[in-house]
Amino acid sequence: MELLSCVLLWKLVLLQSPAFILSSGPAGTAAASSSVVSESVVKWPAGTQAVLNCQSPRMVWTQDRLHDRQRVIHWDLSGVPGSQGRRLVDMYSAGEQRVYEPRDNGRLLLSPSAFQDGNFSLLIRAVEEGDEGVYTCNLHHHYCHLYESLAVRLEVTDDPLLARAYWDGEKEVMVVARGMPALMTCVNREHLWTDRHLEEAQQVVHWDRQLPGVPHDRADRLLDLYASGERRAYGPSFLRDRVAVKADAFARGDFSLRIDALEQADEGIYSCHLHHHYCGLHERRVYHLQVTEPTFEPPAPASPGNGSGHNSAPGPDPTLVSRSRGHSVINVIVPENHSHFFQQLGYVLATLLLFILLLITVVLATRHRGGCEASDKKAGKSKGKDVNMMEFAVATRDQAPYRTEDIQLDYKNNILKERAELAHSPLPAKNVDLDKEFRKEYCK
Ligand SMILES: *[C@@H]1O[C@H](CO)[C@@H](O)[C@H](O)[C@H]1NC(C)=O
Ligand SMILES: *[C@@H]1O[C@H](CO)[C@@H](O)[C@H](O)[C@H]1NC(C)=O
Repeated sequence: MELLSCVLLWKLVLLQSPAFILSSGPAGTAAASSSVVSESVVKWPAGTQAVLNCQSPRMVWTQDRLHDRQRVIHWDLSGVPGSQGRRLVDMYSAGEQRVYEPRDNGRLLLSPSAFQDGNFSLLIRAVEEGDEGVYTCNLHHHYCHLYESLAVRLEVTDDPLLARAYWDGEKEVMVVARGMPALMTCVNREHLWTDRHLEEAQQVVHWDRQLPGVPHDRADRLLDLYASGERRAYGPSFLRDRVAVKADAFARGDFSLRIDALEQADEGIYSCHLHHHYCGLHERRVYHLQVTEPTFEPPAPASPGNGSGHNSAPGPDPTLVSRSRGHSVINVIVPENHSHFFQQLGYVLATLLLFILLLITVVLATRHRGGCEASDKKAGKSKGKDVNMMEFAVATRDQAPYRTEDIQLDYKNNILKERAELAHSPLPAKNVDLDKEFRKEYCK
């Protein structure tokens, strides 16, 4: 009984909630393309500002906060093959170069333009005895989660004639005469390491607009937004100046489009495309914008009541207008008659349910009393049994789901096992027990 009423109540709740209405709306069209995350019809009165939401936290561009330090080069030196290397010099793509040992200052050189030309080679001005060892050129791309490493072994000799370079099968080996410069070559000209703008172009947001009947692949581009901050506006001239996306869009992941002073000609299908090529994010949000008749103009009745007649004019409030405006932003997804119908249905079902519940409680209460009297006198036996059977039917129906659950639990512990065994015990015996217990408690 409780279960049943619970289910009915939930159905009612679902019917009333906007989420249900939303999913019952244009779900069919949304399923056609996997990249469409939402599609809805929105209506605003002419002259007002429309806001078409388009937000995704995954599109937040965080790299600029790091001052473009997402790429790092560092040169390490390890004297003995097994030992941990020590950091000699490193540099972020923002341009900061750090030399770790004071004695290496001005002795070890990295090209300041390394992240532009891809030449990460390390120059040692004058080689000393202590410079021998394995040098590693390490490139980290934090944003792309890439790491590349290149090793060069440096040997120092006293005889300039022995100076040479060769490949030992794993790495380059350089034999350099004492006091001579040594150039440890490390070049990587892949755009990933050198081109900053290409990386930012990985995150792109478009707003498109198409007139009804035009397929989305032939839509007109309204706006292009790049994570680098670059923006391009296209669109028809009458619309271009009235559309805007907030300046900090990539910082917040909020690319909602505002259209000021709506005109009838603005109607159409607007779509927001979010692309994060690196992360594989490709989402489209579609809005069918409808511009309705202009709403009640508040300035006309409000202007005489500006200062003096403030309390004398209780009529239309500007707050009322703004509230209804805000409301239209939230739910205008399904034709109104639809939701109206669901509401009506909900009310009817709710009253019906209440009535049924009331009826059942009344019937049960009266019958129990009758059953008790009958069994106490041990006269109307057959009548009493009828009632008991009914009760049992109700009781078992309630317990049925729990029993099957217990069996599925695979007897993980003994308590469950016992409970399951109890549940399996012959029904008639249980029936009698239940009845007796129930009556003892109820008729006291
Ligand atoms: C890399 O830069 C060094 C100077 O730092 C220069 O001597 C060398 O020729 C450059 N290598 C390449 C391949 O451009
Ligand atoms: C009422 O306010 C508007 C601006 O809100 C102003 O232009 C107008 O002069 C005011 N009228 C009076 C009667 O104060």
